[in-house]
Amino acid sequence: MGEKIAVIGTGYVGLVSGACFAEIGHRVVCADVDEGKIERLRAADIPIYEPGLDHLVRRNLGSGRLRFTADIDTAVRDADIVYVAVGTPGLDSGAVDLSQVSQAVRQIAAHLNGYKIIVIKSTVPVGTFRFVEQTVKEAAGENARFDVVSNPEFLREGSAIRDSFHPDRIVIGATSDTAARRIARVHESMGTEVLFVDPESAELIKYASNAFLAAKISFINEMANVCEKTGADIALVARGMGMDRRIGPYFLQAGIGYGGSCFPKDTKAQLHVAKKLGCDMKILQAAIEVNERQRLLFADKVARALDGSVKDRIVAVMGLAFKPNTDDVREAPALDIIRVLRQSGAQMRAYDPVATEKAGLHLPGVCLYSDPYEAISGADAMVVCTEWDQVKNMDLHEVKRRLRTPVVVDGRNVFEPKLMVQLGFRYHSVGRKNVQEEYAGIV
Ligand code: UGA
Repeated sequence: MGEKIAVIGTGYVGLVSGACFAEIGHRVVCADVDEGKIERLRAADIPIYEPGLDHLVRRNLGSGRLRFTADIDTAVRDADIVYVAVGTPGLDSGAVDLSQVSQAVRQIAAHLNGYKIIVIKSTVPVGTFRFVEQTVKEAAGENARFDVVSNPEFLREGSAIRDSFHPDRIVIGATSDTAARRIARVHESMGTEVLFVDPESAELIKYASNAFLAAKISFINEMANVCEKTGADIALVARGMGMDRRIGPYFLQAGIGYGGSCFPKDTKAQLHVAKKLGCDMKILQAAIEVNERQRLLFADKVARALDGSVKDRIVAVMGLAFKPNTDDVREAPALDIIRVLRQSGAQMRAYDPVATEKAGLHLPGVCLYSDPYEAISGADAMVVCTEWDQVKNMDLHEVKRRLRTPVVVDGRNVFEPKLMVQLGFRYHSVGRKNVQEEYAGIV
């Protein structure tokens, strides 16, 4: 018999978690203040592009295990477990805006009609658990029957469904053992290892994981810049490093750096929190700076590939989303790169299979395309910013035929340098030496 679950917030985390909980047998109601969004969700019209999500939502709507509502109060009253999965946007200071969490928690407190477990799934800085506990106590009174559990989410956009069903670990931070075990049982059918910890550790595991992964990416990007000066190949360096099990092969893909709604925000938030606690996180600070610089270095690389200036040249950027299989353009490297190239006088075009609508709002003056070949026709350079299959699998003969000058600048190292030179491209990538000279003799 499944649990009666309410999920407040139908963003990435709330929507995916709600649909997955329904799929494994719980009765789930996903609630949101946005009535328009709820109307769309009731018709299985998913506001984000996430492979497999529409199918999952449709199936569970059909079975009756998943419902959507804008009536948060009733959703809370009818549930035994309430997940808080609202947004926690970053502020300019680096701090996290907890107003949505605060509002959701007060709303839960106002409708505590019996014992409930309040689960914090939103990404929140360390200390939020205690804040939530205190807020509910104050609002609902000392006799209110509830427990709070911190249960951070580790899913990635683009593979969110798979990550939800097969997480590497489930982290549960609580002061009540009974509540912790009940939340563990919610996930039981996944067969994943559960780590029971104190609330503060749970909150920090989330930030430490994202900060560490961000640092790993910035580290490999700095190594890539060294490779370019030495003739070494970053893909081989990363492969050799990754064979050491202590390092591991993942998140060592050099390129134009990380974007998205998580790493940029969470790294800054962790830095902010650490500073307030009197801790100076130098490695994290450097990881953020390296990531910001990597985009600028890449824009420079594009200019150098076009003989030093992009002024009045037509540049086609391939991929706007911060990574493939999502239409999310938040903090996407492509947007910054386009802005810089535009400021330097380039005529910009951009292609993305799914993100042009969302990106368009941020890209005035840029011609947007949903066909990759049309985007590059007559362009002076093709610039790869997202490793979409649609880009990786382009017919390179056709690319060569369509470009006005055969320049390809590859920010995600999707093409094979030797092949590109053999095909007659002037090809530049990240952390791999400029292949022109090396292969010049064989073409
Ligand atoms: C990230 C984490 O991977 C998730 O575990 C976490 O739950 C999520 O943030 C979150 O906090 O909600 P996500 O931002 O969806 O997930 O995407 P990632 O796959 O981690 O990629 C982030 C960025 O790093 C992308 O721009 C990607 O292109 C870049 N990246 C990733 C690299 O540049 N190199 C790599 O080797 C890996």
